Amino acid sequence: MSQARLTSCIPLPLEHKTLVNVIEKAKDWALMHGVGMRDKKHFNKDVIQIAPFVLLPSPFPRTEFDKAIELQPILNELMHKVAHDDCFLEHTLQNALQVDEFTASLYDIWVKVRNEGVTQPVSLGMLRSDIMLESRCPHTENQCAKHSPYCSWKQVEINSIASGFGHLGPVSREIQSYVLRQLGHGDLIKNMPENKALSGLCAGITEAYDLFGVPSAVILFVVEEVSYNICDQRFHEFEIAEKRPDIQIHRKTLNEIFEETHLNDKKQLILDGRQVAVVYYRSGYEPAQYPSSKEWDARLRVERSTAIKCPSIHYQLAGTKKVQQALASPGVLEQFMGGGAATSRVRDIFTGLYSLDFDETGERAVEMALADAEKFVLKPQREGGGNNVYGADVRDALLKMRHSRERAAYILMERILPPLVPGYVVRPGSPVPPPVVDLVSELGIFGVIIGTKDKICYNRQVGHMLRTKLADANEGGVAAGLGALDSPYLVDA
Ligand SMILES: Nc1ncnc2c1ncn2[C@@H]1O[C@H](COP(=O)(O)OP(=O)(O)O)[C@@H](O)[C@H]1O
Ligand SMILES: [Mg+2]
Repeated sequence: MSQARLTSCIPLPLEHKTLVNVIEKAKDWALMHGVGMRDKKHFNKDVIQIAPFVLLPSPFPRTEFDKAIELQPILNELMHKVAHDDCFLEHTLQNALQVDEFTASLYDIWVKVRNEGVTQPVSLGMLRSDIMLESRCPHTENQCAKHSPYCSWKQVEINSIASGFGHLGPVSREIQSYVLRQLGHGDLIKNMPENKALSGLCAGITEAYDLFGVPSAVILFVVEEVSYNICDQRFHEFEIAEKRPDIQIHRKTLNEIFEETHLNDKKQLILDGRQVAVVYYRSGYEPAQYPSSKEWDARLRVERSTAIKCPSIHYQLAGTKKVQQALASPGVLEQFMGGGAATSRVRDIFTGLYSLDFDETGERAVEMALADAEKFVLKPQREGGGNNVYGADVRDALLKMRHSRERAAYILMERILPPLVPGYVVRPGSPVPPPVVDLVSELGIFGVIIGTKDKICYNRQVGHMLRTKLADANEGGVAAGLGALDSPYLVDA
């Protein structure tokens, strides 16, 4: 089956001189508006280079975009309920915990905090549901003539920690609007949906801050030792500083939190003599970010404290791949959402997701993947990109671990086949002009939810981001140098 195609918002290729000219302008626009990242290869803290971006916005069906936007508050609520269902998390993660040390360490913190009594019942969820259009028809296994060139979108995953691109998402719309105007196509900008992700996410943080209710308290961003994706973090700080100059923000690594904070007798987290109201994690989602016991101790300290965490540890556990797979199992959504229309709308977004536990279903999944490995992705309980197994490697990996307990730490997922879109990718240091290449996109919808186990007091969809990669690339992390910033150009069927 050949992969379906969508057409570019303006005819390609562009004339050589026009293209060279507009790319030169766009690169400077990027540098001067924070469409940037630090260089991993030649790191210099004082230097920002352009982040890779797609020159023109990529087409995305309007109805599917609207569907994703509308569904987000429902997904927020679902995640909130899942995060607060102790039995479900315990049951779902039990096999993975035995073989996955990282998830087990997170889980241990959660158990410790629960045993000693939760001091802060409010959680701040800043979620991002990542989706891709599926160009195959689920019923025929072939491209469906009725829905061609796409059927509907499917969820890749939902992120509950460090969901980035709150700044880079909206600014991608701005740079592509600038490019369209320079090319004399400013009239097309109306098809690029408004994107207020940055202000929406920051409003979530300040809402939680106000709920904490201590005017002298501070906000703490937990950051990596080196933040390559610095624009996407700093712009959150700048936004809060502008809207709420009364609030002080600190950036600290887990190690610095270990060294510089303490819990007082009321379990308030104290930094520089002031209470911490909200802790926003932009790090802490992968093992390398906990190089020693100090980082784990810091995480436990924060978790025990009265600060409102984004995310609380149980929210992070709810964002694991294993939980996503469990939610797609028969009858599970009903447990959380009842059996109404919203439940079937959520069920529709799942592509095939299979447990690899040592039971009958797990064995069937292994057989299925061995028979047609290219159709699947193998995923461990990890975040941050670069951990999944694709294509022929799925078969090798499964053959290797078929009889080992390690297998239970993975889930198997059907591979989504998005439609191809032609476009230009502008990368730092790469020759200008770039060639027209086939691309595929992944849309992320941001949601903010605040509440306790029993009461949700804030639940919104707040914006989006689009990442686009070469059609034959497995993964599309922008910071990893694979994907490129993009934004949707809505098209009617
Ligand atoms: N089922 C899938 N079909 C197609 N591509 C996928 C699928 N699952 C993941 N990918 C690709 O791999 C990337 C990483 O997978 P993801 O599940 O988001 O893990 P991570 O937590 O590392 O971001 C995605 O951004 C997407 O490009
Ligand atoms: Mg992802």
